[in-house]
Amino acid sequence: MLTGRILLIVDGPAALAHTPALLAGLRSAGRFRVTAAATRSAEMFLPLMALSALAGAPAKAYSELTDDDWRQADVVLLAPVSGHFLTELAAGGAWARLTDNGRRRVLAAPARLEAEDAAVAPLPDAVEVIPSAGSILALGAMGAVATAAPEACIEAIGTALTPPDFAGQTVLLTAGPTVEDADPARFISNRSTGRMGAALAKIAARRGARVIFVHGPMSWPVPQAPAIRAIAVRSAEEMCNAVLAEIPHASVAILCAAVADYTPVAYSREKIKKGTAATFSLQLKRTPDILATVGALDQKPFLVGFAAETQDLTANAAAKLRQKHCDMLCANDITEPGCGFAVPTNRLTVLFADGRREDLPLLAKEEVAAKVLDLVRREMNSSQ
Ligand code: CTP
Repeated sequence: MLTGRILLIVDGPAALAHTPALLAGLRSAGRFRVTAAATRSAEMFLPLMALSALAGAPAKAYSELTDDDWRQADVVLLAPVSGHFLTELAAGGAWARLTDNGRRRVLAAPARLEAEDAAVAPLPDAVEVIPSAGSILALGAMGAVATAAPEACIEAIGTALTPPDFAGQTVLLTAGPTVEDADPARFISNRSTGRMGAALAKIAARRGARVIFVHGPMSWPVPQAPAIRAIAVRSAEEMCNAVLAEIPHASVAILCAAVADYTPVAYSREKIKKGTAATFSLQLKRTPDILATVGALDQKPFLVGFAAETQDLTANAAAKLRQKHCDMLCANDITEPGCGFAVPTNRLTVLFADGRREDLPLLAKEEVAAKVLDLVRREMNSSQ
């Protein structure tokens, strides 16, 4: 669970639409102590009483922030912040105050009216801009602003507060189900939502990795962060091709997609009619085993597989680890309550190539992801 003291400075009309979601998200993302402050222009749209209620603690006017407020902050987040206020800060020499403590991180999510010119006063290097990444906030009659979504701001705080022990690593992930089309109306797929893979991508990016996220059609949101490059695919074959194209860039590969093992032998361009017979068979053929294909490469990254089992967990998982030449394999019993598909938690047994094993407790998927990455880091360090 993330912890830290956040000084949130909100500015401009965009606060009205941005700040409630940002503060609600911060409450559920970690144990943060948030001091919220509003500039004069934000106060016109979001009075301090409303800001206090949203923050769950007394909010302040920007001009009333004390030296202690600045000193105690681990992260100063200016979100949303208008170009006008950024220019004012630069002119008033306030940047020095924002960044005067070597430890503190300063993040800014500029909010620019769509019609406005992109030019804003140049920000000092110590200020990290959270890119809007195409996110647009509608402000009714005032138009719309391009600004980083509240979730992107929360992710940026997570990154700022997390030691970058994966800096310099590129992590290739597979996630979600694959979909094997039979005809224009039907397909074969499975219950995977992609949530475990999304958690791994998010935490790896927070820890400084560049992430290549190859995913099938997910029912869980695809994680967004500047360090995550998502590649959407549909079938096992497409996923395999995407993985093989990207694998030379990866230093770590964690393949946790629920890949269909079989696909229809032929795709019917016309909808298959039901006919009169009481039974129906669809002929299927094997799909490529992506993990085994990567495991067989001469030059391969540190390779982590997953195993979804319903019986003989350790024996089945150990066989998969051996047969697919993994360095590490994370196994879960998908029939156990709180494990497997479409639940927020998971309990993994992690096996290593030399026969060691570690049993993790039942944890939220993001905590599971953090533990898996801890183990990857440890194993990579010990093999260097
Ligand atoms: N996997 C893969 N390509 C496939 C099938 C599986 O890359 N065509 C990967 C999964 O992403 C996972 C691991 O292999 O990392 C194990 O997947 P799992 O579904 O548990 O096992 P299978 O190897 O498919 O074997 P079985 O279904 O018989 O248990």
